[in-house]
Amino acid sequence: MCPDHSRPHDPVPPHPLLSREEIGARVMSLGREINAALPPGTIHVVAVLRGAFVFAADLIRALPREVSCDFLAVRSYGAATESSGIVEITHDLGLPITGRHVLLVEDIVDTGLTLRHLIDLLATRRPASLHVCALLNKASRRQTEVPVDFVGFEIPDRFVVGYGLDHDQRHRNLPYVGVIE
Ligand code: IMP
Ligand code: MG
Repeated sequence: MCPDHSRPHDPVPPHPLLSREEIGARVMSLGREINAALPPGTIHVVAVLRGAFVFAADLIRALPREVSCDFLAVRSYGAATESSGIVEITHDLGLPITGRHVLLVEDIVDTGLTLRHLIDLLATRRPASLHVCALLNKASRRQTEVPVDFVGFEIPDRFVVGYGLDHDQRHRNLPYVGVIE
């Protein structure tokens, strides 16, 4: 059974940009790319909450080697669809990352301000290596230069929801990525 993701107060569901099939296939190939590129050993996957939790859950199952997982929660958006530029860590890591091969998993890189902040923070804790994987990249919106080692999809400058991404906490459970106007 496929749930109906439209809502009574939402007559127009988000317009599909990436189907669940496209996402699924890309996540599998990302797993292979990451496995081939990272140094041997356990990959310590750090997912950025809340947006990346759906992607991270699928990505770890596409990684054909041992992983450990941790989470970091940040707030960079309120109800608005524009970045505030202020990045607040609302929940820090539960495990030390010193000496580990860290893979930071983000849902989307937009201005790059969130990622810049997180990379600088994690680098101070001396991981053995630090790589970044983002499901989506809006390169045209970048305000600060930031390295993204693995990108699922390059997307245009549109506000997207679904597959973990929200607008004001809604639509995270959509199985696809769609555009809202
Ligand atoms: P940045 O700091 O501008 O790069 O924004 C990064 C964060 O903003 C992401 O991790 C998302 O949580 C959120 N964000 C940016 N663009 C979108 C979007 O199109 N849809 C949903 N969230 C977004
Ligand atoms: Mg996010």
